[in-house]
Amino acid sequence: MSTAAKHEASGTLDTTWVRERFPSLQQQVAGRPAAFLDGPAGTQVPRQVMDAITNYLTHANANTYGMFLTSRRTNEMLSNVRAAMADFFNCAAEEVVFGQNMTTITLGLARAIGRELEPGDEIVVTTLDHDANVGPWRALEEKGLVIRQVDIRAADCTLDLEDLQRKITRKTKLVAVGYASNMVGTINPVAEITKMAHAAGALMFIDAVHYAPHGLIDVKALDCDFLVCSPYKFFGPHMGTLYGKKEHLERLKPYKVRPATNVSPECWETGTQVHELIAGIGAAVDYIAELGRRCDRTAKTRREALAAAYAATVPYERALLAGLLDGLEALPEIRIFGITERARFGERCATVSLRIGEHNPTKIAEFLGERGIFTWDGNFYALNLSERLGVEPKGGVLRVGIVHYNTTEEIERLTSALEEFCRIG
Ligand SMILES: Cc1ncc(COP(=O)(O)O)c(C=O)c1O
Repeated sequence: MSTAAKHEASGTLDTTWVRERFPSLQQQVAGRPAAFLDGPAGTQVPRQVMDAITNYLTHANANTYGMFLTSRRTNEMLSNVRAAMADFFNCAAEEVVFGQNMTTITLGLARAIGRELEPGDEIVVTTLDHDANVGPWRALEEKGLVIRQVDIRAADCTLDLEDLQRKITRKTKLVAVGYASNMVGTINPVAEITKMAHAAGALMFIDAVHYAPHGLIDVKALDCDFLVCSPYKFFGPHMGTLYGKKEHLERLKPYKVRPATNVSPECWETGTQVHELIAGIGAAVDYIAELGRRCDRTAKTRREALAAAYAATVPYERALLAGLLDGLEALPEIRIFGITERARFGERCATVSLRIGEHNPTKIAEFLGERGIFTWDGNFYALNLSERLGVEPKGGVLRVGIVHYNTTEEIERLTSALEEFCRIG
């Protein structure tokens, strides 16, 4: 039995404990508690992340590899956090790379991969993805590479796997797919797609930025070549992280300055890193593990504790999602994008995009914001999808993002505020 399956049944979530960990959730807007339904653009952080950042700056603030205390502490912190992210990804510590954010990491990696490719070689991207998993690959068109874009099934906003299979050919060198859509929440069958890519001899790159707060990542089980995610979407600071198979990180040549090391993974970490925020990443992983240990006292290793945390948060988020959809479906002129069948919740996470008639999503977000309910409007850089769904010229969609610190009460507040909007808007 996998670690995740073992903990599946035993997890229950103590939301009071969870919410007490996040100081920012106490904020009020016009005398009402703020409802943070804006998680897909960045989640709130628990106190221990803030403390880890302050602690680093107080006791360890230095550059790396110096012959003195604070520099040694910096090196120690970096190796501890690499180990924490290795548990998060289920890989070896030397397969973890830190970077400014997912977009910057992907631009750098794409350039490095491009060095190995020839004009006429092909890369497959998708219509469902955030542009950070499209633009960096499209940039290689300058070198004569051909980019093939896989379509979606518009009815439920899932990837068209037949189109994907058609677009992967013997010329394909890399397939770049998102784990979950940051606009409509669809979870892609990335393990299956990895097999399709590998069968054609292509590398598999997964953008797990949106998936990371919603599900346990296991790069070993997926067998992907690269996977990226951004800690600021899973309760950590504003940074990005990359998993790369050791053989690729060691073979590929990143663009770098001469005095910088050629040793992987550090050769991928251009310039001086934001050490204080890396310290915060370690604390974010440890927060999730601590949550897991509260949900399942039998969890021993950090990896087991992470699995236990997700085993508790996944059903919790799904229950909130069901409540949200019940409320939304009762609204007049509502259009919900993506999967809505309750039986198919395994194929999506709790991120919901919607439109209400011809109302401009910015106006709805503003109306909600004035009532202390934080949601996003627009295309969230999922530009291909926004265009494909025909909403790009109309201001995109309103996006509601649920994570494990949200509550039923917040969902009810949101749906009654939307009812009010429909009455008077
Ligand atoms: C699915 C997805 N991919 C990539 C990104 C870009 O991440 P970053 O802000 O770390 O560059 C985002 C950001 O919203 C995202 O949601």
